[in-house]
Amino acid sequence: MISNKSVLVTGANRGLGLEATRLFLQNGFHVVLAGRDLRALEKARQSIDPQAMCSSVLELDMTSTEQIERVPSRLDEAGIQLDVLVNNAGVFPRDGSLIDGLRLAIDTNVTGAVALTLALSNHLMRTPEPRVVMVSSGLGSFGRCAGADAPLAASHFLAYQTSKAALNMATVCLAKQFAGTGLVITTISPGWCRTDMGGVDAPRSAREGASVIYHAATLPPGSPSGTFLGENGTMPW
Ligand SMILES: NC(=O)c1ccc[n+]([C@@H]2O[C@H](COP(=O)([O-])OP(=O)(O)OC[C@H]3O[C@@H](n4cnc5c(N)ncnc54)[C@H](OP(=O)(O)O)[C@@H]3O)[C@@H](O)[C@H]2O)c1
Repeated sequence: MISNKSVLVTGANRGLGLEATRLFLQNGFHVVLAGRDLRALEKARQSIDPQAMCSSVLELDMTSTEQIERVPSRLDEAGIQLDVLVNNAGVFPRDGSLIDGLRLAIDTNVTGAVALTLALSNHLMRTPEPRVVMVSSGLGSFGRCAGADAPLAASHFLAYQTSKAALNMATVCLAKQFAGTGLVITTISPGWCRTDMGGVDAPRSAREGASVIYHAATLPPGSPSGTFLGENGTMPW
C-alpha cells in the first residue's frame, strides 16, 4: 500500500540506512535522510531521489546533544511532520582502546538513539500512528549470545554487544514510558547483512535487512510496543 507518511532515518547515507530510505521512498514515504556528513547524504540522496521530490537531508551527529535537541524545531521550520523515526545510525568499534570503544558505542548507539526519541516524542505523537524503530542486533540478545549452547556463543565484541543489549532495555523502558499514547516503539535485528559494518561475507543483503526495519516502521494500529523483532519474527531478549 502506498503511504503518504514521513520518516526520519539516521545514518541514511550508506548501508542499511540507505536501503531503508530506498524502501520507504518506493512505498510513498517522504524521507528525511539524517547523518553527520552533509556531502555524503546529498550524494546518497542523488542516487535514489535525484530531483529531491520526496526527500530532504538533515545534518545530525548522534553524539551531539545540541544537534539532537534542535531536530523538532528544524522539522517544524521545514514544514515536515514525521510519523516514523528510525534510529539506525550505529558504530561497531573494533580498533583501539576497548574502553574508548565502549564509550563511543554507548554514546552513539544508545544515548544518541534515546535522546533523539525523547526529543521527537511530542512531535511524533501529533500523528495518529507514531512509530519508532531502534536498529539493534542479534549480538545484543542474551538469548542468542549467553550460555555455551547459544547460537552466537562464540561472539565477544564487548563494546558493540553491550551497547545493543542496552538499546534493547532502553526500548523496553521507553515503551513503558509511552504506554497508552499510541506510540509503538520496536527494537529490531536486521540479521547479518552485507554493508561496510557487516562485511562482504554476510549472508543477507542490505535490502533484506532494511525490510525488517520497514516492517517495524509500518506495524498496524494496536500492535504491541516494546517488542524485539527479527527476520523470522520475535527475537529472544
Ligand atoms: N550490517 C549488519 O550486519 C548489522 C547487523 C545488525 C545490526 N546492524 C545495525 O544496523 C545499523 C546500520 O548498520 P550498517 O550495517 O548499515 O553500518 P554502516 O554501513 O557502517 O553504516 C553506519 C551508519 O551509521 C552512521 N553513523 C555512525 N556514527 C554516527 C554518528 N555519530 N552520527 C550520525 N551517524 C552516524 C554512519 O555515518 P558515517 O557514514 O558518517 O560514518 C553510517 O551512515 C547499525 O545500528 C548497526 O549496528 C547491522
